[in-house]
Amino acid sequence: MILKTLDDLLGEGVSGRRVLVRADLNVPFDKSNPGVISDDGRARAVLPTLIALRDAGARVIVMSHLGRPKGAPDPKYTLAPVATRLGELLGSEVVFAGDTVGPDAQAKAGALTDGQVLLLENLRFNEGETAKDDAVRAAFAGELAAFADFYVDDAFGAVHRKHASVYDVAAVLPHYAGGLVIKEVDVLKKVTESPEQPYVVVLGGSKVSDKLAVIKALLPKVDKLLVGGGMCFTFLKAQGHEVGKSLLEDEMVGTCRDLLSEAQGRIVLPVDVVAATEFSADADHVTVPASEIPADRLGLDIGPESVALFAEAIGGAKTVFWNGPMGVFELAPFAAGTRGVAEAITKIDGFSVVGGGDSAAAVRTLGLDESAFGHISTGGGASLEYLEGKTLPGIEALEK
Ligand code: 3PG
Ligand code: MG
Repeated sequence: MILKTLDDLLGEGVSGRRVLVRADLNVPFDKSNPGVISDDGRARAVLPTLIALRDAGARVIVMSHLGRPKGAPDPKYTLAPVATRLGELLGSEVVFAGDTVGPDAQAKAGALTDGQVLLLENLRFNEGETAKDDAVRAAFAGELAAFADFYVDDAFGAVHRKHASVYDVAAVLPHYAGGLVIKEVDVLKKVTESPEQPYVVVLGGSKVSDKLAVIKALLPKVDKLLVGGGMCFTFLKAQGHEVGKSLLEDEMVGTCRDLLSEAQGRIVLPVDVVAATEFSADADHVTVPASEIPADRLGLDIGPESVALFAEAIGGAKTVFWNGPMGVFELAPFAAGTRGVAEAITKIDGFSVVGGGDSAAAVRTLGLDESAFGHISTGGGASLEYLEGKTLPGIEALEK
């Protein structure tokens, strides 16, 4: 990569200088305990960058999005709890600004002393962050850039977004890639350009339409593509099975049929499914063959025979990339598929990459040993778009 890194910046000296850091602090929250972070992996992933800057005496201004608020303040998406957690992880206070570029942010950024860290309120409380209009984004980027002398992007999870804080700020300030971005890109490059064979990809998640581009890009490169999660039902339907009330993208059935024929047996689907009466932890559920899902039930996980089938394919691999849970792992009765596949991945004699938000969160919330995986990415969409071969705006901006 021809870009400047955080180490270059530290080498230039940052004591007393103001550094604007884009982080991806878009962490999941506990659905039954509002305000409680259920997985702080993304916050932990950016710590080395923040610590290095803090310890070098920089005045650190951190910015992030959280969720998808619609360009205006929405208390549901405040970063305040994340500032608290970040302070605990850093072992030093994180000042929190109640706005992003408004009077509070300006006052608090201005009052920073050497080695202090400030977190701005959610970037997406401002229309300019995600605006399609280049001029509107650039104007907001200008307000952010006014806070600092340097810009460090360590938000790998957001590098696929052409947003003001990811793309446009880099055009205004001297810019550097953080260690997380460098590490993520190195790993994905290796998996994309020279994966050791056999190469097995495991895909889950709810929608085929979201994964279509990556499936098409990967099919020629993989030995096996294992499909679980909500998206497997559209494939099962394409094979001629009825899927009851399971998730189904009707308009994608034809596409799935084409993919299955193109793949010539390399796409592997579940052979059994945990079928429930409704989407709930207390729902009555039974394991049925994938070809016999009752009309009044919906599949919420892959079954044990599927786990065994997938584990066998994974066991022979030298490279595994996994994105997307196999079932609704957040609900205990439907977690076994994701757990079983994850455990199989930890046992391979090779290199494994867990791509993304939900699967990375699954690894940690199911209590699996993170160190048993080769790499756990902080980016879901970002890692998939990298594998698709797309240009990532955040990386492009850093390379300019
Ligand atoms: C993610 O969670 O995938 C990243 O934080 C990006 O969020 P977004 O999909 O809302 O842009
Ligand atoms: Mg996402």
